Amino acid sequence: MDKSKYSVIKYHEYLGLDRLLDTQHPRSLEVGGKEAHDEMLFIIVHQAYELWFRQIIHELASVHEIFSADKIDERNIGVSVHRLRRVNEILKLGVQQISILETMTPLDFLDFRDYLFPASGFESYQFRIIETMLGLKDNQRITYNDKPFTSVFDEEKKKKLESIQASGTMVDLVEKWLERTPFVQDENYSFLASYSESIQQMLERESEAIKTSRFLSNEEKEMRLEMLGSSNTYFLTVLNKEKHEQLRNEGELTFSYEATLAAVFISLYRDEPILRSPYNFLNTLKDVDETLTNWRSRHAQMVLRMIGKRVGTGGSVGHKYLAKTAKKHQIFADLYNISTLLIPRSQLIPLPPEMEKKLGFYFQ
Ligand code: HEM
Repeated sequence: MDKSKYSVIKYHEYLGLDRLLDTQHPRSLEVGGKEAHDEMLFIIVHQAYELWFRQIIHELASVHEIFSADKIDERNIGVSVHRLRRVNEILKLGVQQISILETMTPLDFLDFRDYLFPASGFESYQFRIIETMLGLKDNQRITYNDKPFTSVFDEEKKKKLESIQASGTMVDLVEKWLERTPFVQDENYSFLASYSESIQQMLERESEAIKTSRFLSNEEKEMRLEMLGSSNTYFLTVLNKEKHEQLRNEGELTFSYEATLAAVFISLYRDEPILRSPYNFLNTLKDVDETLTNWRSRHAQMVLRMIGKRVGTGGSVGHKYLAKTAKKHQIFADLYNISTLLIPRSQLIPLPPEMEKKLGFYFQ
């Protein structure tokens, strides 16, 4: 290492500020000859996002690397939770940042909007990397003008996005990790059998309570029993592998049967010491997904306020397209489905003592 160089670093050199602060060039001035005051804010807000996107990719790449291993050290689950929480905090800041942009009024925006065509946030390559790394699949995406979202990128960028998908996204890696969860089944214990019995008992109790209720009319009883029958159907997705596979083939579910069962197990027994950090990990993935969805909704709302029903500079129908992505571009939808499959702790068949010991920190 060149120590002399190390000792003379200056703040602005370390941060590359000369270069960084020379990258704000309002088009209204360069093309139109008169700077629109708010264009500087517009540029800086976008640049700030792109810098944070860079940090998010840095964090996701490290979690991806951890989860690419065949066996994941327990400590690294904690590291992953820590880094994903950071991603979530950055995304939350991203949601807040929209309010800064909204200090620009629609009329202020019109002062320079024409100079931006056909550029659009739709071309944010880093945003696509984040979505792809997390696991948003091509066939899940809403497209417009019959073109794939990659059509705006050059060949090199397209290949990079393809290689991220091919090397396994977070959804793929988490699925594999869940499938390897020990304890779900061993020589003396079957979570599936115990869970299935708990559900059966719970449904029988609920059905009995409806039938014998003194407060419900016969009609109401019938309706409630019918509703109970449909929640029974939902439990079938975990109790019945064929049904699960069918829904997966129809695109309703993403995770394999084994991965889903493990996620239910972890969520139900999350208070057992060994399952705490896997539970935190799954929960943090949901946080990240949810905050990204919040950003999509917030951005769509801001766009409505800013340009009304006008088409976007990138050629989409604008607000309507963005609102649809907020609804459909959810990445870890299967983890939300787990909540449907939970049953109250009081109605769970207790773990056998041997299994409880295995899941605890047990000292001889
Ligand atoms: C005045 C402010 C803004 C307006 C009017 C606006 C408008 C739009 C519109 C209409 C689209 C859909 C594509 C198109 O037709 O162009 C879009 C997409 C997008 N914008 Fe913005 N945007 C604004 C600010 C931002 C900011 C600050 C970011 C931060 C990076 C951003 C990131 C994106 C991204 C990532 C997409 C792609 C979304 C997707 O396809 O799921 N936008 N924007």
